[in-house]
Amino acid sequence: MKYLTVKELSEKWKMSERRIRALIKEKRIEGVKYENKYLIPENAKKPLDRRIKGQRALEDTSLNRQDFDFKNYRKHYPTSDGYFGRFGGSFLPKHLQKAIDEVYDGYLTIAKSAKFIAELREIRKNYQGRPTPVYHCLNLSNHLGKVQIYLKREDLNHGGSHKLNNAMGQALLAKYLGKKKLIAETGAGSHGAAVAMAAAYFDLECDIYMGAVDTQKQRPNVDRIKVLGANVIAVKEGTQTLKEAVDAAFNAYAKEYKNAFYVLGSAVGPHPYPLMVRDFQEIIGREAKEQFVAMTGELPDVVAACVGGGSNAIGMFQAFLEEKVNIVGVEALGQGPTIGQNSAAVSLGKEMILHGFNSLVLQNEDGSVGDAYTIASGLDYPGVGPEHAFLHEIGRVKYEAITDEEAAEAFFLLSRLEGIIPAIESSHAVAYAIKYARSVSAGSILVCLSGRGDKDMEFMTRKYPNMYK
Ligand SMILES: Cc1ncc(COP(=O)(O)O)c(C=O)c1O
Repeated sequence: MKYLTVKELSEKWKMSERRIRALIKEKRIEGVKYENKYLIPENAKKPLDRRIKGQRALEDTSLNRQDFDFKNYRKHYPTSDGYFGRFGGSFLPKHLQKAIDEVYDGYLTIAKSAKFIAELREIRKNYQGRPTPVYHCLNLSNHLGKVQIYLKREDLNHGGSHKLNNAMGQALLAKYLGKKKLIAETGAGSHGAAVAMAAAYFDLECDIYMGAVDTQKQRPNVDRIKVLGANVIAVKEGTQTLKEAVDAAFNAYAKEYKNAFYVLGSAVGPHPYPLMVRDFQEIIGREAKEQFVAMTGELPDVVAACVGGGSNAIGMFQAFLEEKVNIVGVEALGQGPTIGQNSAAVSLGKEMILHGFNSLVLQNEDGSVGDAYTIASGLDYPGVGPEHAFLHEIGRVKYEAITDEEAAEAFFLLSRLEGIIPAIESSHAVAYAIKYARSVSAGSILVCLSGRGDKDMEFMTRKYPNMYK
């Protein structure tokens, strides 16, 4: 049989050599052999171009709103007073509103200056180690079927999660504003550790508020925060998780705002936090899109990310909103759909104001805020960022929910097949990719792997001994 080189096949099929190499790696061309270079049988069948298939699939779904101008979306959303449709805004007592206005003024002037942007770029490159790579999970993909699964490796960002993208941005702003202290809430401890790193870097004091339950579940991060020189204040109110940590951090900030800066960890809170956090996190999607196209020659069929408050997801999604790509936000279904058993605020919440902004929030029958629950401390919040509520309402992003057990399966499967231990938060997005790969026969999915799972080892191995032995 006659064989062709990649170069010869590229001319025959009128396809780039890079694209052909990607197809070979995806095992989509039959009969290929390797003798110092790839050799492809002359009569090999040209695989179907998924770009066309993906676009066709979109016409059947509500995922892509053709009548919405996503090219100019960022110019219009949020509005100058912080609204995404009816979601967002700022609902604060007067004195706190004054403090937040100072933050917004600083953000609009200082954070947009060439000096600030250059300094942040330098930090991202040399301190954080950006860009983080996109990785093709060949073993996991082959194990599940034909869908190709790719990860945007935010777990390789310094500190082990996406949280540092935002923490360094806000801390740099705090430094420019002359603040001496950083205050932050944390659930999984990823944001707490990121803010503690930023405080060390910028030589600022640092108080991290964390629910007492989470200080037990995520002990490695508590130790990290302390080693980094910051204080951990365990919050013992209510469910002793993220919501109460936010309450306590806000209360502290209300007393200390003259001297301190509140570094909010997710795309939630009063305006301008959802905007700032989105802007500091959009590097994820911008890099990922460029890297994915460079690797494969096309866009992914699906982009997915887990949604707690929604910062890694909103950062990942921005660059893809204007593209013909299905976008999926993955929430935590915990033990089921009953309020108190999950954290799926988009899927199961109702509109209300919480922590100074209007969005979708889990509610009890009497309209009070419902308790959130999930094994993932970083997703354990009863509300969601206003931009997610909006993207859900206009139908551009689809929101799915994954149970504790499904996330745990993904946690162990990715670890075993790829040698990558995902954070239990990120495992929810990986679990969605696994479900997707089991349900369709071709295509690609790009998942934001928001963090690494070292912090979860003790908890996961104790809770699910049968899944890894
Ligand atoms: C690794 C990781 N991923 C995701 C999240 C969820 O946050 P967000 O929805 O803001 O990305 C957290 C929160 O702590 C986290 O630690």
